[in-house]
Amino acid sequence: VIRSVIRGVGAHLPKRVMTNADLAKIVDTSDEWIVERTGIRARHIAGDDELTSDLGIAAAKQAIVRAGIDPVDIDLVICATATPDRTFPATAVRIQQGLGVTKGAAFDVQAVCSGFVYALTIADNFIKAGQFKRAVVVGAETFSRILDWEDRTTCVLFGDGAGAVVLEAQPQHGTRDDRGILATRIRSDGRFEDLLYVDGGPGSTKTVGHLRMNGREVFRHAVQKISGVIEETLVMTGYAPDEIDLYVPHQANQRILDGVLKKLGVSPDKIMVTLDKHGNTSAASIPLALNLAVEQHRIKEGSLVLMEAMGGGFTWGAALVRW
Ligand code: ACO
Repeated sequence: VIRSVIRGVGAHLPKRVMTNADLAKIVDTSDEWIVERTGIRARHIAGDDELTSDLGIAAAKQAIVRAGIDPVDIDLVICATATPDRTFPATAVRIQQGLGVTKGAAFDVQAVCSGFVYALTIADNFIKAGQFKRAVVVGAETFSRILDWEDRTTCVLFGDGAGAVVLEAQPQHGTRDDRGILATRIRSDGRFEDLLYVDGGPGSTKTVGHLRMNGREVFRHAVQKISGVIEETLVMTGYAPDEIDLYVPHQANQRILDGVLKKLGVSPDKIMVTLDKHGNTSAASIPLALNLAVEQHRIKEGSLVLMEAMGGGFTWGAALVRW
């Protein structure tokens, strides 16, 4: 059978770091409140001339170099983003151009914070179907551009950045010990739109708009939906929660991560945490965390890695990969 094997990972963060103390100069908040309620200590913020595609191109280039492949052999570029450079063309097409790729297809996926898991699922299915052989899957965001910087309940939570992986079609044995993506599961339910959305766009105010969130309600749904989709993904492959080498969750909030851990009975040292340094970078948070986990040798060849996310929509999902 053909599996999508992760050949390389890369990341890029804007230079400018904004700490909780910096935020306390803009809105009525404190380092203590933010750390205690979220676990976030700092986030990176893009400069005026740093677009989502710029971050995505830099991350993708690093992933391609580490994969040791020639960009001309890439035939699929997917960018998960809720903060595109423009309404159209897709940011993925701009990334494709930045990489010098001219064959195959490029398009964006909009599933907000679950975007990377959605994009990985789509790329995996194209590869397994034999339609594409080498895919770059990018999660890139500049949420700083859609935040209401006067709303302390949301502006302290998010940051900018990008991460990317290179997937390659490789023949495997068809067993659960194969390398590559072993299982994916994506879900959505539009009944919860009012709990997390952006109040702008061509069909409403015709401006970009600002992120609006009922944090308490989102929190309540997150633990339940994320634990559910992890359990479903494990059942699909017959692995128990403690057989996973590393959980690489979407980084929204330390308390959501703790809640999921407790529900699954997984020990905290099996969870990759980057939100203290990056905040919530939406679709970029999982590939940013994957990148750090590989650099810190917490993921090695053969590691069993489970990614999960939930975001606006609601959308949610999980992917199990043997590195
Ligand atoms: N600094 C200081 N005080 C604040 C801040 C702030 N930045 N933000 C809110 N407060 C105040 C509130 O005004 C409120 O004051 P009041 O009691 O006088 O009215 C008090 O703190 C408590 O507010 P709550 O909203 O009840 O605080 P809560 O403990 O629920 O924490 C939070 C808020 C952190 C947003 C939490 O609900 C949460 O983490 N929700 C999950 C949302 C999330 O992570 N979303 C990310 C996008 S979706 C995803 O990626 C999964």
